[in-house]
Amino acid sequence: MKKITIESIQKKKNKQPIACLTSYTKPIAEIAGKYCDIILVGDSLGMVLYGMKNTKNVTLDMMIAHAKSVRLGAKKNFVVVDMPYKTYQNKKKAYSNALKVIKKTKCDAVKLEGGKKIEKIIEHLVKKGIPVMGHVGLLPQYAKNFKTRGKKKNEREKILNDATSITKAGVFAIVIECVVESLAKAITKKIKIPTIGIGASKYCDGQILVIDDMIGLSNFYPKFVKQYSKVRKIVDKSVREYCKDVKTGRFPFKKNIYRS
Ligand code: KIV
Repeated sequence: MKKITIESIQKKKNKQPIACLTSYTKPIAEIAGKYCDIILVGDSLGMVLYGMKNTKNVTLDMMIAHAKSVRLGAKKNFVVVDMPYKTYQNKKKAYSNALKVIKKTKCDAVKLEGGKKIEKIIEHLVKKGIPVMGHVGLLPQYAKNFKTRGKKKNEREKILNDATSITKAGVFAIVIECVVESLAKAITKKIKIPTIGIGASKYCDGQILVIDDMIGLSNFYPKFVKQYSKVRKIVDKSVREYCKDVKTGRFPFKKNIYRS
């Protein structure tokens, strides 16, 4: 597999939709890496894996541990790691934390949530050689609710302005989360770098979903998720049958036994 680079991702704008998924562990990354252009080690892992009610308590160490696991399964893929809440409030902190993530995980880039407010921080990281992916629209690290963004004129203008500011600051691509279709279309038309949508219409240059939602494992299925399989049902059936076999004395079967 040819190594995916920022240049090869950016060349896809207006030509070929970019396919992205989250991964938190090696086995899933091994599968995602076969087909995806970008793998994101999202801080959504706090909610998906650890049962947190939002992403605010995810730590840098959690992200590093999961990113290391993902990198083992996706050696040649382009892997982006989310910087958790309150790990990038100023230039100095953002740089030392982002550098730690890149050095320890050997991943390719970090993702920061926010717009104009963090443009100087992004600019600083990019100048120091750390590739940054942006994230505008609904920002889970700061959101008080998970409603669609960009319905009102002032909110729409702010999000468009956020996307423009961080593009100027040097992000190589931007995740747009949960915004109305017309806004995703306007941002994608206005900026020269790829937009990656989640609940942000087909007008983005690429799409991303949380893999556990997409394969039907998480039990969280908002409108913007297409469930491609029902893994929860498959695991349920396997566990049910295994427990039945153990409890009825059928397992281990002959072929599962080591003989002297
Ligand atoms: O944390 C995450 O998984 C994300 C995606 C939803 C884009 O940021």
